[in-house]
Order: sequence, then structure tokens, then C-alpha cells
Amino acid sequence: MGDYDKREKLKEFYLKIRGCQECELSRSRTKFVFGSGSAYAPVMFVGEAPGKNEDLQGLPFVGQAGKLLDELLDSIGFDRSEVFIANVLKCRPPGNRDPRIEEINTCKSYLLEQIKIIDPKIICTLGKISTQLLLNTDKGINTLRGKVFKVDSRIIMPINHPAAVLYTPSRMEILKQDFQKIKRLIDSDGEVPACEEDILNLESETTGDKQNKGEQLGLF
Ligand code: URA
Repeated sequence: MGDYDKREKLKEFYLKIRGCQECELSRSRTKFVFGSGSAYAPVMFVGEAPGKNEDLQGLPFVGQAGKLLDELLDSIGFDRSEVFIANVLKCRPPGNRDPRIEEINTCKSYLLEQIKIIDPKIICTLGKISTQLLLNTDKGINTLRGKVFKVDSRIIMPINHPAAVLYTPSRMEILKQDFQKIKRLIDSDGEVPACEEDILNLESETTGDKQNKGEQLGLF
């Protein structure tokens, strides 16, 4: 797909789904939060779900966690307009409760289509929910963060969610280091540099975690 096509396709997709009423969250939301950034982004960041500020503005990561994400992007020379930022859920769960499994299952096709259109070399999953969804695993974020997975021709790197790091500042240094690693991955154009020794075989890391693995990973 050419670059022009990507932008048009993403816009077309946004217009198609922005009025979504597939689950109850559509009734309590203020705004549908599609995601933002460049359709040509080499790297995509995937969070969990919109919070209060995101719901009001219709944009992802615009609260405190977003401010930290912006700073971390800046530390590796990126502006948020050069990457693409999205969430697993496009609507805010009331009171910022955890997303429910049925909501994730209903909404995930939107994220998978965004990934298909943008076709980024690298996907950074922020926290447990997006990591478990895109790696199709039950393993926890503390086990997976900072590791590099190659799924088909794409790199998936889980990192801690910025909001979690705001609650546990001792994890800040780890998050900063993980961003340096993201930078190395971007610089190597999605090829895993020889110095990154921890690229993992998805099969051996996640086998048996979820039954529909092959089906889901086949989508992108
Ligand atoms: N947390 C998320 O996971 N996504 C947002 O958009 C904001 C906070």
C-alpha cells in the first residue's frame, strides 16, 4: 500500500467506525478515541483504554500518562505526530475500571485493522492489556517487558504502561531504558540488531497460553 493510500484508508476507517455502538461503552462515552499520529509511522504505541481526559478530548494519552509518553518520545527524538498512538478500547470504561474481556473482544478488530493499514515495523505495547492481546498470552507484563518479539515480519516490544510508572516511580529508569531500546530498533529499521540478545521465539514463550493464538497472529 502506498503512503497516500495509507492515509486515505485510515481516514476512511475512522469515518466508518467513529459512531460505533457495538458495546455498552458507546452509551457512556463522550468521544470515541480512534487514535492519533501518522499513518506512515514506523512505530505504533498501544495503550489500554481512554481515561477521563481522553474521553473529553477524543485523543489518546492527553493526561498525565500522556505527558510522560511525550517526554519519553522526545528523549528518543520523536514527536507524537511522527508515531501512531492508539488503545485496545476506543471508548472509556466508566470510572476507568479495567476493560472487560467482552469489550476487548468486541473492540480488538478495530485495533487489528489500524495495524494492518499503518503496517508499522514496530509495535510497542504499553502495559498488560495490549501486551496480552497482541502477543496472545496470559503472561504478566513484568515477565514480558523489555523483551523483543518478532511476529511475522513485525517487532512487538512490551513496556510498562506510563500510568503505572507514575504510580511506581522506581520503574522510571527501566522505562527510560526501554525507550532507548525502542530507538535502537527504529534505527535498525525493524531489523533486530545483533546486540539485542533477547529476541524471543514467540512459540516457546507463549505456547499453551491461549488457544486461538495462530488465528489471531495470522491477522497481521
Ligand atoms: N491510558 C491509556 O491506556 N490510554 C490512554 O489513552 C490514556 C491513558
